[in-house]
Amino acid sequence: MAQQEDVFKKIVSHSKEYGFVFPSSEIYDGLGAVYDYGQLGVELKNNIKQYWWQSMVLLNDNIVGLDSAVFMHPTVWKASGHVDAFNDPLIDNRDSKKRYRADVLIEDQIQKYEDKAQKEVDKARKRFGESFDETLFRQTNPRVLGHMEKRDALEMRYKKAMEANDLAEIRQIIVDEEIVCPISGTRNWTDVRQFNLMFKTEMGSTADGAMTVYLRPETAQGIFVNYLNVQKTGRMKVPFGIAQIGKAFRNEIVARQFIFRMREFEQMEMQYFVKPGTEIEWFNYWKAQRMKWHQALGFGTENYRFHDHEKLAHYANAATDIEFRMPFGFKEVEGIHSRTDFDLRQHEKYSGKSIKYFDPETNESYTPYDIETSIGVDRMFLTVMCHSFEEQTLEGGDTRTVLHLPAPLAPIKLAVLPLVKKDGLPEKAREIVNNLKFHFNTKYDEKDSIGKRYRRQDAIGTPYCVTVDHDTLQDNQVTLRDRDTMEQRRVPISELQHLLEERVSLTSLLKKLV
Ligand code: GAP
Repeated sequence: MAQQEDVFKKIVSHSKEYGFVFPSSEIYDGLGAVYDYGQLGVELKNNIKQYWWQSMVLLNDNIVGLDSAVFMHPTVWKASGHVDAFNDPLIDNRDSKKRYRADVLIEDQIQKYEDKAQKEVDKARKRFGESFDETLFRQTNPRVLGHMEKRDALEMRYKKAMEANDLAEIRQIIVDEEIVCPISGTRNWTDVRQFNLMFKTEMGSTADGAMTVYLRPETAQGIFVNYLNVQKTGRMKVPFGIAQIGKAFRNEIVARQFIFRMREFEQMEMQYFVKPGTEIEWFNYWKAQRMKWHQALGFGTENYRFHDHEKLAHYANAATDIEFRMPFGFKEVEGIHSRTDFDLRQHEKYSGKSIKYFDPETNESYTPYDIETSIGVDRMFLTVMCHSFEEQTLEGGDTRTVLHLPAPLAPIKLAVLPLVKKDGLPEKAREIVNNLKFHFNTKYDEKDSIGKRYRRQDAIGTPYCVTVDHDTLQDNQVTLRDRDTMEQRRVPISELQHLLEERVSLTSLLKKLV
């Protein structure tokens, strides 16, 4: 566990050191849970977005895009339920004056029991070596059983309290479990209160009677309120989908784990409108399709799992999360929900306008059901960074830090390096860059020794480097180096585009999805 935490810390500092992710307003000591993407981060993020966008809009002729505004009429959020129910339960410690999410304090406590049981398992594994049977040990060891019993009892009590929205009971759990504030070390807790996560601001001047508006907490509502506009102007027939990528804002109280939980983040959401009665079939289709999208990146099937929701939101009739194994455990990256006709009906009710679909085949009007796929760009970015980062010890004891980014997502696809800064080599290298830059992101680098330059490109995930040397001027060949294998081979300059284009383009990924 501690080792994994170290790896995560290294990923965070690597992201900053190489221009992927910076804390926002860093010269003013940063702004909590808000981050900026640097020169390489923005490229990686754009590639992730392109991969998603093209998999939706390019590969499906019944899915179209949308770019709706961040600000929306405030009634949208009343209709969607966000004004009344988009809350987190909060508790304050009176001594430290620090505020916490009560549910997170309890979930951390549940995790503590699990960690204690795991510690026993790890100790026993060391003691028994090869012959260790973890399942049997977990079923029989009294200490492990004791920790797990406490864990299960706590989880059951907590779930019941959350379902009943019983804030007094949630507080009582914190008191009974003797949970202390990590800052003051005391148990001097206030009552638990609900706190709405939406950011509010005002539109128009106060003299005119300004209107309270919200920064959208999800992009989905922009799709629902435009559903009829798109359906009519695009002459879309059910089933059809609308895809959107855009910023979302949530006033998260517990913001931690770097870009995992942010206050300003980006979502890629697709709403797929289907005929009522067919929604579970489509839910299963999108569940499989989205898992395929993740696994096409080659991060290992064992690092993904579905977490099917047992308790469903009142408007959903099926829901699952796609979880990825981060250094801090399996975590949600994407949600897939069968949202019934809840959202469209709510907007119909609050706006007073009919937004039904007329089916020309059956001559009937109905409110379509909706399947939503919703993934956070930043969480996907974190997934890619976590899986790609490696500190490698090479033969001979040398070390290197390498980002094994999937080539189609890498910010730079090819670095062109003149062996020395003279004898016409820089000119030849620039000529190669100038020809290839129209096809994929190609960069020139002449600073430092060739070994240092290779290491720098490894650290930012550039899949290929070519070196221009004195022979190049005679035979028009370069040395092509592969980031992962570090193998080098001579190839004619004229073949570079053909050799690399297929491997570094998104097409290679997209072809795995059909
Ligand atoms: N429209 C449905 C919706 O917004 P959600 O489960 O709240 O559902 C969907 O969010 C995805 O958005 C999550 O799976 C996650 O990837 C991302 N996400 C949500 N809150 C986030 C946050 N505070 N920071 C970063 N990503 C977030």
